[in-house]
Amino acid sequence: MNAAAFVRGAAHVEINEVAPRDGLQIEPLVVPTEAKLGFVDALSACGFARIEATSFTSARAIPALADAEAVMHRMQRVPGVRYTALVPNLRGLERALSCAPDELNLVMSASETHNRANLRMTRAQSLAQLEAMIAEAGKAGVPANVSLSTVFGCPFEGEVDDAEVLALAQRLAEAGAAGITLCDTTGMAYPDQVAHLCMAFQARLPAAALTIHLHNTRGMGLANALAAWQAGVTRFDAAAGGLGGCPYAPGASGNVSTEELVHMFAAMGVETGVDLGRLLQAVAGLPDMIGRDPGSQLLRAGPRLRTHRPPDWLAAHFAAAGAA
Ligand code: COA
Ligand code: ZN
Repeated sequence: MNAAAFVRGAAHVEINEVAPRDGLQIEPLVVPTEAKLGFVDALSACGFARIEATSFTSARAIPALADAEAVMHRMQRVPGVRYTALVPNLRGLERALSCAPDELNLVMSASETHNRANLRMTRAQSLAQLEAMIAEAGKAGVPANVSLSTVFGCPFEGEVDDAEVLALAQRLAEAGAAGITLCDTTGMAYPDQVAHLCMAFQARLPAAALTIHLHNTRGMGLANALAAWQAGVTRFDAAAGGLGGCPYAPGASGNVSTEELVHMFAAMGVETGVDLGRLLQAVAGLPDMIGRDPGSQLLRAGPRLRTHRPPDWLAAHFAAAGAA
């Protein structure tokens, strides 16, 4: 294949940073509110389109994010960044709306078993609540995106039918969802699958804002992101340091790492608006915050054009060998 055959997606993409929510919800250490605020504020300086700051879930289900109100009220909002939060039910919506979010991210699963395990509701119950929640949020003037979990595969059921995913997305779009996020909850997606579902989604719902949410559980995160971009997707969720995972999905692990995604786009000349240097500074602070090193490969290696001084012995060695 020659270079001209490489398919390019959009010249500008939006990056939504989800580490404060998807990242911290699965960490064994409950991060103190002050440290979370420092993290969100550091991310706010990076140039993200959106930051998903927390979730309004039951404190029994997600103890790590029990301080959702405090985070939303006390973070320093930077103009231009849209602050959102995950909301699973009507009780969560009421809490979220008391915190003046710019938008909300409602959630349900495409597969019945994961919906029951994660949300303790049938899909029909979730759908009914989500429709009511979209209407309520609309009355409050807050756009509600819906994240559909397990659309590329379910850790309990295996393959998930594209037709069911698209029908669900259509129903939610018709109910007034501001956008739909297709989520690969446990990294079961592979690149041509991602491309096909994203293209089918855009053909069926051309007016719906589509976001892709990928996990790197099986090492295909960036390959899937590239496939989504080539298929026309312009909105990407990602988590700093590659943190993340759903505690109610067996085998779950980190989101596609924001720094790796931003670095890949920057290398290809795709505008993300994200300042990689500032983001890497925030990533460098993660071990202190979560009590473990998430092992960011990009932080270790640096951006691709970071060069190193050759070792001191090199010049002497070649001089002694008589090389010019
Ligand atoms: N926020 C705070 N508390 C909530 C709540 C919410 N959004 N929803 C329910 N509760 C409380 C209820 O008030 C009740 O409290 P009580 O026992 O003190 O009376 C308790 O939780 C149980 O309520 P119930 O409606 O029976 O909820 P549940 O136990 O069936 O849980 C969810 C349902 C959706 C709240 C819970 O499963 C959940 O939070 N899931 C989120 C999972 C998640 O975030 N996964 C990762 C992201 S994909
Ligand atoms: Zn996720």
